[in-house]
Amino acid sequence: MARWCSLKTIILLSTLILCVNSWKKCQETFCERARKSPTGYEERYFIDKNSIVIKDGTFTAKLNTKTPSTPTLNLVLSAFEDFTFKVLINELNPASERYQVQDALLEEKNRPKIVTLKQHNKTDDYTIMSSDKLSAKILYNAFKIELYREGRLISTINPEDRFLFETAADKSAIALGLSFANTQRAYGIPEHADHLSLRNTRHDNNDPYRLYNLDYGHYALESTESLYGAVPVLYAHGTEQSSGVFWLNAAQTWIDILTSPNDIDAFFMSESGVLEMYVLTGPTLRECVQQYTDLTGTAPLPQLFTLGYHQSRYSYMTQDDVLKVVDNFNANNLSLDVMWLDIDYTDQKKYFTWDPIRFKNPKDLQTALTKENKKLVAIIDPHIKVDNGYFLYKEASSKGYFVKQENSNDFQGECWPGKSSYLDFLNPKALDYYASLYTSNNFEHKNVHVWNDMNEPAIFNDAANENTMSGELMHNGKWKHRDVHNIYGFYQTIGTKKGMLARPNKVRPFILTRSHFAGIQRYAAIWTGDNHATWEYLQISFPMCLTEALAGVSFCGADVGGFGGIPSDELYQRWYQAGAWLPFYRGHSAIDVPRREPYLYSTTIQDRIRTAIQQRYTHLPAWYTQFFEHERTGEPVIRPITYQYPKESDAMDIEDQVLVGKNILAAPVLKSQSTIRRVYLPGGKSEVWYNIDNNYKAYNGTGYHLFNVTLDSIPVFYRGGSIIPTKETPRLSTGESHKDPFTIYVSLNYENKAEGSLYVDDYETFDYQNKKYLYLQLTYADNAFSSKKIDENANYELTANLDKVVILNPPKKVKKVSIEGSEKVIEMSYNDDKTILNINALAIDLQKPFTIKLIGSSAQHVKISMFALISMLICFVLV
Ligand code: NOJ
Repeated sequence: MARWCSLKTIILLSTLILCVNSWKKCQETFCERARKSPTGYEERYFIDKNSIVIKDGTFTAKLNTKTPSTPTLNLVLSAFEDFTFKVLINELNPASERYQVQDALLEEKNRPKIVTLKQHNKTDDYTIMSSDKLSAKILYNAFKIELYREGRLISTINPEDRFLFETAADKSAIALGLSFANTQRAYGIPEHADHLSLRNTRHDNNDPYRLYNLDYGHYALESTESLYGAVPVLYAHGTEQSSGVFWLNAAQTWIDILTSPNDIDAFFMSESGVLEMYVLTGPTLRECVQQYTDLTGTAPLPQLFTLGYHQSRYSYMTQDDVLKVVDNFNANNLSLDVMWLDIDYTDQKKYFTWDPIRFKNPKDLQTALTKENKKLVAIIDPHIKVDNGYFLYKEASSKGYFVKQENSNDFQGECWPGKSSYLDFLNPKALDYYASLYTSNNFEHKNVHVWNDMNEPAIFNDAANENTMSGELMHNGKWKHRDVHNIYGFYQTIGTKKGMLARPNKVRPFILTRSHFAGIQRYAAIWTGDNHATWEYLQISFPMCLTEALAGVSFCGADVGGFGGIPSDELYQRWYQAGAWLPFYRGHSAIDVPRREPYLYSTTIQDRIRTAIQQRYTHLPAWYTQFFEHERTGEPVIRPITYQYPKESDAMDIEDQVLVGKNILAAPVLKSQSTIRRVYLPGGKSEVWYNIDNNYKAYNGTGYHLFNVTLDSIPVFYRGGSIIPTKETPRLSTGESHKDPFTIYVSLNYENKAEGSLYVDDYETFDYQNKKYLYLQLTYADNAFSSKKIDENANYELTANLDKVVILNPPKKVKKVSIEGSEKVIEMSYNDDKTILNINALAIDLQKPFTIKLIGSSAQHVKISMFALISMLICFVLV
């Protein structure tokens, strides 16, 4: 006990040290000079028109300045079948190789194919290259490229002639501007604690947005400062067209944004590396996101349990404590799928070891949890305690697997265990060694999953280097840390996944990472790091995760309750209600705050939390289907309203509501003392939304509506025209729910139609990749609800039936319900005002196609039709 207390003091001190750190401003880094460009860079680049080569459908030319001694650059422009352009600029003959990011992109064979750009026109001043729908006007002097899609200007590269490409050994920054025509908002470039719509950084002395992965606890809100992750994809969004750019560079990067009424300008500045970027021509935000995930991939379908509720704490100190928490969740009827082990399960913060006293039998713990249908996630950080008695340290240092200083000695920095060295995940051999650790050390159990933290990487007490590695450190004998900083943590997750996949009883691995880079979605989920127990942090978690989702990273959440600080009772409950509508749902808290598992609260509070968690579990079939569809299509699991309704300019800044897929709109209460929640319902008069929080009452999608709320309220709406699968049997974990019957909600639109999908498999293994799943198209039309397979030749022996169908705004004169081809008498009942029709005890086998018919229905949808009529009349009068 005494030992824990002293440890606690040390940790608190370290936290304090982290908090007082001040992060670098633009003017303290290379950004100072780059941002001023062209001032300070007298030499302007031009395209040497005699150097132009058009080969294999690609345009190549040399970029030179008037000073012959300036190294020549090589420019390559190509286009791809999904309507993207790639621009690559590098030194023609670099004195030393510049770092080009490798593994963030999908393998080339899995990316869209190149399309041939043909020379269309050539003058003394420019060349026009074009393919079927794309064209590029390449102006020689000043160097500038205009990109068009079907004759419409999408983007201008280097519009202000500020391009720079430094080639000295100690100054190797690159920078380039782009403007995006006909757009009004900028989104993307996570991770920042800022709004969905990015701010104008070229006004009011704002610093540019910074991408430089840092360990920044209790971070400033509404800020352009760096956080833990860096995903350099920017979208320019408009009601008429959207476009974007993926700036593929792993070095420290700053981005200036200038928003004009109908144009977004961005100026990207990176400290080193090559200039590689992809211009996404949309033309919608949805297609831009698709173009981005065509390059970097989608998240593989996670196990179902990962979408349940997770309970964490820094730290559960003993294995008995872990099991007691589980008992308490069970005893209080609170659903829970995963228990988390923070750093204290280890023996003195030595990863891949277990404390010999407090976690003396990890196998027993794993077996006990498995018996309860719970999983375990254990933390593994990248810093390795310097200790010759520690097997990992000894092996890694003898084999040269640590990040090195310039003099080739192992780098050492301070972190949780004290003096530490850092695994060099950019060294393929070190990465393989690291991966191999997951097949032993009590990590081999299939129900043990992994949390990679502090992998920015974090180093304590090094203010000069912003508590991370100095740019001068070396990776894989070749790259300076400055070149690869933002991708270091990403590589850790590659190793983690590789290791987990090599375990016996291979199942889909779950990894949570704090540091992240473009493409991370293929390996891990993320969370928003060390937030704090205030309303503002609850609120910011929505735009932060929405931004991540647009940047390919749908599996995102925030520490429920706030990591640091003590939430008020009201905030605590609201956070559970809201957190249930972000993809990753985990309660977590810091070491220095009182325990706050939900069962420690009063019965009333617990009841509300139980309801919130239950609502999450009820909708898991819908969430799981969304994740499956995300893997296939790249469509984000959660979406800002504007993604689905780009024409509604009022919706462009909405960030306190999420669409789960396109059918569920969640608008949880995020403000203290709320009695009214203002909710934007999109889609216009022809769209209807059913409030599941209030007896499925129908509202038109005509913009803002005011809803009275109490502490029990969680405003959530089903879109009319959608079919949403749920499971309503309360269970203590997802593992217990596999055989439970489905309830399907059919929310009719004004045409009395609806459609949706349901995806089911074994929820755990990779068998779904071998056609062992059911993917169903659900349709309601002509007073009949039917199901058929989308993928004909996929099948899964499903033990869960369809038990109940609930029709919202049903026909009013249904006399009877029948299942086509069956004599079975089906129970049905209306609610009092006939706005809901319940069809019960169906016991339908979902593996076979079926049709449920509503008989005696003259398809009158009285209430809603009246509603529509009244709305139309009001509009008529107003006009
Ligand atoms: C920092 C993480 O952000 C936090 O969630 C964790 O509890 C601590 N590190 C201790 O591992």
